[in-house]
Amino acid sequence: MSTPDTYSYPRYLAAKKTVDARALNTYVWRRFLDRLAARGEALRVLEVGGGVGATAERLIAALESRAVAEVAYTLVDLTEENLQAAASALHSWANERGYAVTGRGLQQEWHSEALSVSLRLVHADLHNVTTDAPCDALIGQAVFDLLDVPAALEALRPSVHADGLWYLPIHFDGVTAFEPRMDGALDATIARLYHESMGDGVHSGRRLLTQLPAAGADIVAAGGSDWVVHPTADGYPGAEDYFLHHILHFVETELTGHPALSDEALAEWSEMRHQQVERGVLVYVAHQLDVLAV
Ligand SMILES: C[S@@+](CC[C@H](N)C(=O)[O-])C[C@H]1O[C@@H](n2cnc3c(N)ncnc32)[C@H](O)[C@@H]1O
Repeated sequence: MSTPDTYSYPRYLAAKKTVDARALNTYVWRRFLDRLAARGEALRVLEVGGGVGATAERLIAALESRAVAEVAYTLVDLTEENLQAAASALHSWANERGYAVTGRGLQQEWHSEALSVSLRLVHADLHNVTTDAPCDALIGQAVFDLLDVPAALEALRPSVHADGLWYLPIHFDGVTAFEPRMDGALDATIARLYHESMGDGVHSGRRLLTQLPAAGADIVAAGGSDWVVHPTADGYPGAEDYFLHHILHFVETELTGHPALSDEALAEWSEMRHQQVERGVLVYVAHQLDVLAV
């Protein structure tokens, strides 16, 4: 694809699905599923920063083959545009999967022989979320690296059972790499300044391993979930070429006007990197961690 003229965040989240699907740590995921399904036939799940609903799809699909009959799934997001995209994507997904679906907006009921799902999409800041009853699992994928983690954990604690699960996958942990190498010094400067722009979020993956225990939750499992995006003989899978253009767009947006980097050098670098996506040669790696706590 050619370099996009405009960028859409919901489109980025949709393009990210196949990248996450490869990256998610299966050991941590299986421990999560086993513990969650063992909590009973009727489960309450709260997902914060749920974006366009990718994790909801993944979890519901996995629970269909477990001894679970009902799931009350609440997905909270700060951005109305993401929630509207989630409502529409989840509605189509459930229909295609054979559920009888009622409602198509922010409140939907799905029924199949395997599972009944009551889905509620809530436009809210996760710090202000209140639930009717505490949930069995709190999920936050790729969101705690944007937050003051101790404050977010404290705000969410009342919404989670005392022995409830905290499944926090895809949290950035300090490594960004683009290949092929161009100007090594410039690549390194751009990665360093980009990381600095993230503040504490740059090491969010490893910090969760101490911040969760400090908030009273024991770590059950943790492991790497690196994004590794590369071309294959058929080009990039799915919409991963758009995903790469959007990642470069994040870097440009963050570093344009930075006093330690000339805009001209950044523009040249990013133009070359976009062209590498178009030619199907750019490789991108980001180190991340998945964490499960109880
Ligand atoms: C990087 S995206 C991840 C989305 C989704 N979890 C995924 O992995 O595809 C972060 C999401 O968190 C949401 N978000 C950020 N801060 C939030 C807050 N304080 N409360 C609720 N949602 C928030 C954003 O709107 C965005 O949808």
